[in-house]
Amino acid sequence: MSEQISAAGQVPAEQRAREQALTEQVVASFDQAQDARLQQLMQALTRHLHAFLREVRLTEEEWRQGIAFLTHAGHITDDKRQEFILLSDVLGASMQTIAINNQAYADATEATVVGPFFVEGAPQIPLGGDIAAGAPGQPCWVEGTVTGTDGKPVPGARIELWEADDDGFYDVQYGDDRVAARAHLFTDDEGNYRFWALTPTPYPIPHDGPVGGLLAAVGRSPMRASHLHFKVSAEGCRTLCTHVFVRGDDLLGTDAVFGVKDSLIRDFEQQSAGTPPPDGRDLGNATWARVRFDIVLAPAGA
Ligand code: BEZ
Ligand code: FE
Repeated sequence: MSEQISAAGQVPAEQRAREQALTEQVVASFDQAQDARLQQLMQALTRHLHAFLREVRLTEEEWRQGIAFLTHAGHITDDKRQEFILLSDVLGASMQTIAINNQAYADATEATVVGPFFVEGAPQIPLGGDIAAGAPGQPCWVEGTVTGTDGKPVPGARIELWEADDDGFYDVQYGDDRVAARAHLFTDDEGNYRFWALTPTPYPIPHDGPVGGLLAAVGRSPMRASHLHFKVSAEGCRTLCTHVFVRGDDLLGTDAVFGVKDSLIRDFEQQSAGTPPPDGRDLGNATWARVRFDIVLAPAGA
């Protein structure tokens, strides 16, 4: 047992006073910051960081391991791989930030994690078009209505869509310039939308780096519950980044990034081969699925 901690786990008074004095000295070092918000952030960060170090009685070897972890995260990060966002995701920091910034408002659809695979400028498809563009997977008919919290339809809402294919990869992971399983479209005059996608399947977040090592060390899975991403924007409305999840998916309770919300889980109804699709599309002998996902947007500034 450390000599600095008594049998009762108490830090002796003189030791506690020295540690507290250091914390206060560092907090005070930000007193002259010109930017009041930056000052608030740095002083709170200092207080919480020091409280953590003191609570766990961090050893110097653990401090070295922490620095090595962050250094590895830095080395593996480039313009295609963002290990620090993954770290934020698996610590629930991304979801907590989303929760704080997308406050509950009437029956507005809940927001969830954006993830690293959104790409600006995905191609536009017409209503009823197919986002798959050749990506492998089971065809899935997706439809719904975008309304405001006043119940009125939102015509012309822009809906960005992206998802992993049946092999668990987003197009940006293919290693070429293909654009697949991502697109955008606009709601019609009644706020309705419809399109073909792929029935979502589970996939792992990138786990060949330090964040994957951390998950393995603590016995956590890197798997994400099956989902389809939506980003919905319209004038006068709060932009919504969310997913629709698949009811019955085994991973709903253990999503690696804490993105699952009960309110976002829907029935994906499996259709046997030969069942006519709503738009008369010829699917040959393929099975397909269908889901309805109605979306409610909070007002801007809510
Ligand atoms: C995603 O859903 O695309 C995702 C979210 C967090 C980390 C990795 C991927
Ligand atoms: Fe995803």
